[in-house]
Amino acid sequence: MKALVLAGGSGTRLRPITYTSAKQLVPVANKPVLFYGLEAIAEAGIVEVGIVVGDTAEEIKEAVGDGSRFGLEVTYLQQDSPRGLAHAVLIAREFLADDDFVMYLGDNFILGGINQIVADFQTHRPAAQILLTRVGDPTSFGVAELDSLGRVVGLEEKPKQPKSDLALVGVYLFTPAIHEAVRGIKPSWRNELEITDAIQWLIDESRTVRSSTITGYWKDTGNVADMLEVNRTVLESIDGRCDGVADSGCEIIGRVQIEEGAEIRNSRIVGPVIIGAGSVISDSYVGPFTSISADCLIQHSEIEFSIVLRGSSIRGVSRIEASLIGRNARVTPAPAVPQAHRFVLGDHSEVQISR
Ligand code: DAU
Repeated sequence: MKALVLAGGSGTRLRPITYTSAKQLVPVANKPVLFYGLEAIAEAGIVEVGIVVGDTAEEIKEAVGDGSRFGLEVTYLQQDSPRGLAHAVLIAREFLADDDFVMYLGDNFILGGINQIVADFQTHRPAAQILLTRVGDPTSFGVAELDSLGRVVGLEEKPKQPKSDLALVGVYLFTPAIHEAVRGIKPSWRNELEITDAIQWLIDESRTVRSSTITGYWKDTGNVADMLEVNRTVLESIDGRCDGVADSGCEIIGRVQIEEGAEIRNSRIVGPVIIGAGSVISDSYVGPFTSISADCLIQHSEIEFSIVLRGSSIRGVSRIEASLIGRNARVTPAPAVPQAHRFVLGDHSEVQISR
């Protein structure tokens, strides 16, 4: 069994973290979302992985390398432009050969891994096996319609009037039957070769398509509340560890991960918290469910339930919570006089000022 991981796409900048060009590299608890997928694949006993890359190929290759640190053998498959998920299967034909495979969308986050679904697929070996989850607004997903016995009878990509609230999660298992299906379909209204259409093709050809429903799923929608929530969920299960330095003026409570080269001085840290490599926290409070990435500086400040990305600094700010701070951002108090706010805000920023 092989894996096909989709990490291509147009490289459109992800709001609100406008500096992150490859959305698959958005960090969750200081680790790119793509890495959770690769780890889940390795854990399921799969070794040969094809990664489909597009405009952001260099960024992805730099982050993943040859895959050996995950116990994987990675082959990169360049896609000329994002022509759809089924197009990615088309270009991977040679790599996939006649093996069964799991297709994993690199921007999807699934709690609890894929061992069980891979085992289930191997037992029943349907032409395709899909994962579904209930969502509030199914219009931005593929949506499945099931019959009274729970069999998949229809799939629609981003329907205006969804027939159910069951969205397709970005993990699919296929036998080589999918290759005929992806050759048999036409581009959709958005000019993409849709994997939902290819699976519908299998249903129309009376091939078996199985489904299972999961919870614990997240897809980056640029929604800060969702991102904080998934960060919180992952931090719930970290272990405490100190590979950096904390001086005697520190109070460290609960599970706190201090990465190599990080320095904590005269501060109170209440876990679960991760503090990235090379970051410095001094005379500050860092509260539960906070991920501070590498090379950040937090000085004379208080922060909790937040994500701070690489290279940012926060100085002299009395309370920050439920915030997402992008890369290389600087947060400082405004000078006391004159009584005015001064801003340098990136595109699509949102600021809340207390009166
Ligand atoms: O996340 C689940 C959803 O993923 C499903 O519910 C939909 O049925 C499915 O079509 C897909 O929808 P999106 O439109 O959200 O997919 P997106 O364009 O975000 O692409 C998903 C991943 O695949 C992302 O990591 C980029 C990569 N990709 C995408 C395309 C279109 C490629 O590598 N090549 C491509 O051509």
